[in-house]
Amino acid sequence: MKKYIVIGNPIEHSLSPKLHNHWIKENNITADYSKKQINQTDIEGIISEVKDEKIDGINVTVPFKKSVIPYLDELTSLAKEAQSVNTIFKKDNKVIGDNTDVGGFEQGLKHINYSVKNKKVFILGAGGVAPSIIIALRKLGVGKIILSNRTKDKAENLKKIYPGLEIIDWGKIPDFNMIINATSLGLKNDDEIKLNYADITPNKLFYDVIYNPNKTKFLLKAKQFGNQIENGKMMFIYQAQLAFKIWHNLLPKVDDKLLD
Ligand code: ATR
Repeated sequence: MKKYIVIGNPIEHSLSPKLHNHWIKENNITADYSKKQINQTDIEGIISEVKDEKIDGINVTVPFKKSVIPYLDELTSLAKEAQSVNTIFKKDNKVIGDNTDVGGFEQGLKHINYSVKNKKVFILGAGGVAPSIIIALRKLGVGKIILSNRTKDKAENLKKIYPGLEIIDWGKIPDFNMIINATSLGLKNDDEIKLNYADITPNKLFYDVIYNPNKTKFLLKAKQFGNQIENGKMMFIYQAQLAFKIWHNLLPKVDDKLLD
């Protein structure tokens, strides 16, 4: 039986096992996908299990998407560009790190028929997921990306890699068509991003990478003020679909009721 795991810390909230096991069953594959909470010191050992074929594939989630990199034999060009790995597999005796978050974000936007072409997109946050979003937006022909992070240095560091970015102070709101919450604010119920919603003219797209809770305060408020909202559920489903394809060479079926 093939074995797949998702590693992270915490990992309890992860819906990856539910999704992958559903597709495994649907496609009559003999495999099992489980979750494992690990610490930084466990990474080397777990990756060597891929080399030894005790584990067939790993998904990596917060906070290890960057810290797994030194233990891998190779990165795909996308993983290298994003400096972020969420999918690990073995090929030609090498353990390879890939990134399906970029594609997941891209497909998630296509799913709702939203085009970022020539639009202004405002990203909140400069943490682990930000580079994947920036790469996807650029692939989709975004007009301009404005980014703001509480710790401004981290935003400035991203600008060194992606020179077209405009960095603005945390708390300021630029003119935009789409705003993305790429911070971890909203995961806890009392988390709130302080924005002056009344100052933002309606009909914007408010996008939250968070999908659990289903609607963060960021999205609830945005809706109240007449904006379109979207959570990170489809991005999550599509990144999983792409990982599944890498491991099983089969594109499983996606529909928006998958995790309901
Ligand atoms: P990391 O920063 O280690 O990559 P992450 O979970 O990928 O961790 O990213 C967390 C993001 O949420 C960061 O952009 C972080 O801002 P800082 O760089 O200033 O830490 C942001 N974030 C977390 N808590 C926040 C808060 N209370 N207010 C504003 N931003 C917050």
